[in-house]
Amino acid sequence: MAEKPSITIIGLGYVGLPLAVHLAKYFKVTGFDIHINRIKELQEGYDKTGEVTSPELRNSTLHLTSDVNELIGHNIHIITVPTPVDENNTPDLTPIRKASDMIGKIIETGNIVVYESTVYPGVTEDICGPILEKCSGLKCGKDFFLGYSPERINPGDREHTVDAITKVVAGQTVAVSEMLSNVYGSMNGDKIFVAKDIKTAEAAKVIENAQRDINIAFVNEISIIFQKLGISVYDVLEAAGTKWNFLNFQPGLVGGHCIGVDPYYLAHCAKSFGHDPKVILSGRSTNESMSSAVSTAIHQSLKAKNPEISRPRTLILGLTFKEDVPDLRNTKITDIITDFEALGHIVDVHDPMADPKEADQFFNISLKPSLETEDPYDCIIGAVPHQGYLNLTSASIEQLVKPSGLIADMKGMWRKRQFAQHYSYWCL
Ligand SMILES: NC(=O)c1ccc[n+]([C@@H]2O[C@H](COP(=O)([O-])OP(=O)(O)OC[C@H]3O[C@@H](n4cnc5c(N)ncnc54)[C@H](O)[C@@H]3O)[C@@H](O)[C@H]2O)c1
Repeated sequence: MAEKPSITIIGLGYVGLPLAVHLAKYFKVTGFDIHINRIKELQEGYDKTGEVTSPELRNSTLHLTSDVNELIGHNIHIITVPTPVDENNTPDLTPIRKASDMIGKIIETGNIVVYESTVYPGVTEDICGPILEKCSGLKCGKDFFLGYSPERINPGDREHTVDAITKVVAGQTVAVSEMLSNVYGSMNGDKIFVAKDIKTAEAAKVIENAQRDINIAFVNEISIIFQKLGISVYDVLEAAGTKWNFLNFQPGLVGGHCIGVDPYYLAHCAKSFGHDPKVILSGRSTNESMSSAVSTAIHQSLKAKNPEISRPRTLILGLTFKEDVPDLRNTKITDIITDFEALGHIVDVHDPMADPKEADQFFNISLKPSLETEDPYDCIIGAVPHQGYLNLTSASIEQLVKPSGLIADMKGMWRKRQFAQHYSYWCL
């Protein structure tokens, strides 16, 4: 292999694009995506995920393409395609299989194929390797080599960027691990951990997210218990958090592409080996039930003060799966909207971060273009703590709500505020 390998990145989403831009500072990099429109937007300097700025894109030497022929002749292929679950929460490996199939047709002797997508242990070697072999006619581990390097970035997080965090790498051979350490190490100041083998690296990634899910489930469960007791989980967490080894997790809906999905990958793997993953699936089930627990509690709180109300007008602030990102994938706010509509509410939704076209296309939701209203709502729900909502003054929040109305604060973002006494305030 050439001393300075040339690299392709397959799948330019939240993970692939920042990686490609950073690696392109040190190597010849070609970024590929099957979505021609994504490539077109990126070529015009626009990243709709908001992870890479326009100047960064324009100044990058990254070559962008949706032509598979342009992947021929490179040394390392890094696959960063989605790994979702289907409607039964079973891993849907279609994108990773298709990407492997495509790369299998163009790899050459000496190439390394690295997977970054989150998977369960065994996917890289037992599923992707054989696809690459079949499509290439080459022998895995002899003619070409596998690697795995899980991605840990967190959309919207400007501190833990791909060039700043420790990267776990694993190669099929010691030489491949060394090559991957050098490649990734050049962009992140050599913050590399070489895992024992590929399955260990796959397992490490999937448990990072499963662990978060279980910890959030615990906090969600205690938040429901404390609701019944009439105490706020946030007050309790603030007090308990003064202990040196108390883990700081916040209650909330678990949406998005990772934490709510990856535990199902681990559970699927466990079941295929004859183990019933009770803790993992119990955490999932608690987190999945959180939206309806919250909707019911907010509705009851509104009805307690306004028993006669039958068709409350409700405004939900936030639609994305978490704060300060435009990502709508697996957002659980849609469950909240469905619950409220079923309870008779007329629901409006506002979100300055979300793309109105995507909201309409994916969920048939027409986002309110601004917070201005001449007709205040019976209930407003602070659902996603975007910075813009944290910055709202108490007066501007009150203006949105009728005097006897409810200000529901799902994430506790306004819990230190004072609101005029005629408003009700609800928080976990
Ligand atoms: N988003 C995150 O914060 C994050 C963090 C860590 C790990 N991960 C994992 O990384 C992987 C990618 O996630 P993401 O958030 O970047 O997904 P994404 O949906 O943002 O991006 C994936 C990209 O791959 C493209 N694609 C799909 N199939 C393809 C194919 N066959 N060939 C080429 N391109 C293809 C899509 O068009 C899309 O642009 C997933 O396994 C995910 O679990 C994501």
